[in-house]
Amino acid sequence: MKQLHKQTSLSHRRDEEMTPSSSLSTAQTVATPPYSPKAPKHNRSLPRSINYLLREQRLLFILVGILIGSTFFIIQPTLSRISASDPGQPFLNNARSNNNAALFVSRVGRVPAGITSRRLRIVVTGGAGFVGSHLVDRLIERGNDVIVVDNFFTGRKENLKHLFGNPRFEMIRHDVVEPILLEVDQIYHLACPASPVHYKYNPVKTIISFFLLFLYLHCTALHFYLYIYTNVMGTLNMLGLAKRIGARFLLTSTSEVYGDPLEHPQKETYWGNVNPIGERSCYDEGKRTAETLTMDYHRGAGVEVRIARIFNTYGPRMCLDDGRVVSNFVAQAIRKQPLTVYGDGKQTRSFQYVSDLVNGLMALMDGEHIGPFNLGNPGEFTMLELAQVVKETIDSSATIAYKPNTADDPHMRKPDISKAKELLNWEPKISLREGLPLMVSDFRNRILNEDEGKGMK
Ligand SMILES: NC(=O)c1ccc[n+]([C@@H]2O[C@H](COP(=O)([O-])OP(=O)(O)OC[C@H]3O[C@@H](n4cnc5c(N)ncnc54)[C@H](O)[C@@H]3O)[C@@H](O)[C@H]2O)c1
Repeated sequence: MKQLHKQTSLSHRRDEEMTPSSSLSTAQTVATPPYSPKAPKHNRSLPRSINYLLREQRLLFILVGILIGSTFFIIQPTLSRISASDPGQPFLNNARSNNNAALFVSRVGRVPAGITSRRLRIVVTGGAGFVGSHLVDRLIERGNDVIVVDNFFTGRKENLKHLFGNPRFEMIRHDVVEPILLEVDQIYHLACPASPVHYKYNPVKTIISFFLLFLYLHCTALHFYLYIYTNVMGTLNMLGLAKRIGARFLLTSTSEVYGDPLEHPQKETYWGNVNPIGERSCYDEGKRTAETLTMDYHRGAGVEVRIARIFNTYGPRMCLDDGRVVSNFVAQAIRKQPLTVYGDGKQTRSFQYVSDLVNGLMALMDGEHIGPFNLGNPGEFTMLELAQVVKETIDSSATIAYKPNTADDPHMRKPDISKAKELLNWEPKISLREGLPLMVSDFRNRILNEDEGKGMK
């Protein structure tokens, strides 16, 4: 009987596997029950799996497991909050005084001491230069960790030597036209030769990318490289870094983006009057392009950015003989040379002391507004008035030598700083007559020692 049953079920299975035509021919020879489709599997397996769960208290074990897991996740954050407010745990209480760390603690609960107590880490490109070195001093004073990235094209190690050995300070010799990877919270991007003498030396390096070809047609190759390449590639690299690591990025742009302005004083809403093919274009257009890139990274990649438009700034550690009017006049008066005035000396400029600028840059970086913001002193002086202040401060017997004016020299410059006053709560404090004597002793020492070019480079 058993064998007969086996044979029948075997023939059934074979029938199911056959094609319709072959099953038809078999049906003619063997009497088989009419075809009925196989019942879907899940109809049979569903009660079976429920059966399986119900057997041997499996379901009970699963429910107890879920209960234990959820209890742990619900109770654990409460426990860590209680332990954080325990005065016996000073590291977490200290961490709460640090904004970033407090945020971190409140989000993730208990974390290792190395993370919660971390100070703000900041990179300053061009930090060995005039403005950069003063900014670095203030950031270190405030308790931040600072990394300076500089190729020493116009900057000097001398400007930062008082920080050597400070554990909060690091310096990297690096050209920003090459990418660099650092872990920081904020990027102050200052690297760029800022004086006419230097940017006319190598204008090509001041802009790049697809602007490269366009601008190359308008600039001498060297000029183009220095300004266009540095401004575009340098800014691109630093924006790329900011994007990768989620850092806030501040661009130091310039009042030169207004060119020879037709609006006076200049507001941030003014689009400027720039000659795109002149000798100064590599700097002006380089900075305008850098502003464009900065805003594109903000809009397109969500990078947190800040833009400062800096007006003429002076103070200790300025490059001697870099062609900027304040350093020129001061150095000439100390050396007992005539003060060189270009043109009729009636063109106007505004002069800001470097500590005022540093306050403005830090307020901008730490504030909530993108900018651009004019950072400058609205006090306006003609070149002849400036020469007079320099004579009163250094040598009343100094004479003036007139020379033909340089191309595209702006006729007037004066910042409207109402936006910075209102949104950054910032305004300059030091007048020209107060600030000038503060840079004279530094210049006098350096000129007497003639250390420029011989010092640590
Ligand atoms: N000082 C001003 O009156 C003034 C006015 C407007 C804008 N700015 C801007 O402020 C910033 C600082 O100006 P500053 O007066 O201190 O000039 P600076 O020449 O003293 O400093 C610039 C620094 O950048 C470094 N640098 C230049 N090219 C570099 C590169 N490719 N890679 C790495 N480092 C490089 C130089 O070595 C130098 O240390 C500049 O971006 C400038 O355009 C300054």
